[in-house]
Amino acid sequence: MKVIGINGSSRKDGNTAILLRTIFEELNRLGIETELIGLADYEMAPCRACFACKGRGNCVFGQDGFAGIFGKMEAADGIVLGSPVYSADVSSRMKTLLDRGGVVAAVNPGILRHKVGAAVAAVRRAGGMTAVDTMNHFFLNKEMIVAGSTYWNMVYGKEAGDVRNDAEGMANMRNLAQNMGWLMQRIHA
Ligand SMILES: Cc1cc2nc3c(=O)[nH]c(=O)nc-3n(C[C@H](O)[C@H](O)[C@H](O)COP(=O)(O)O)c2cc1C
Repeated sequence: MKVIGINGSSRKDGNTAILLRTIFEELNRLGIETELIGLADYEMAPCRACFACKGRGNCVFGQDGFAGIFGKMEAADGIVLGSPVYSADVSSRMKTLLDRGGVVAAVNPGILRHKVGAAVAAVRRAGGMTAVDTMNHFFLNKEMIVAGSTYWNMVYGKEAGDVRNDAEGMANMRNLAQNMGWLMQRIHA
């Protein structure tokens, strides 16, 4: 089984990356393979709303990395979306992924069906719930099954590394990963 984690931050090794790597540690303990994708490594254009992806299983514009990332989402058994809070919601990089991925999945029904999803946000002060909800909406709209935890999936921090000081938030990341792994093991038993 494999989980891909997608980091929507412009800081490749910032707080969101720490959250995703913490989740991966728990998933790896359960024998689940993981791969981290940083959207900062790609310049992704917004969705063109051409709907040329209908029946093709992926975006027809393959130059900017989106199609490769979506191919990995389709191949994975689980997807963790992580975003910093920008302007009280997900980053524009993450929003682009959700827009383009959302259209591809909408016109190619079932392409993400029954994969397990989890969404996390790194936040300085406010907007964490909105960001987590935005990413969960993607999962829930694509027939995916969303893993839960004991609290809201956001961790507080401003400068890179600050999230490590939010002990409750970091513990919640580990709990979320354990629940995601538990669910995946049962789906694939
Ligand atoms: C463009 C931009 C907008 C931001 N907007 C918010 C915001 O609305 N609310 C908030 O609490 N933090 C905001 N922040 C702070 C980040 O969410 C915070 O520093 C987070 O830990 C960054 O995660 P990263 O290290 O993964 O990039 C913003 C940061 C940037 C760069």
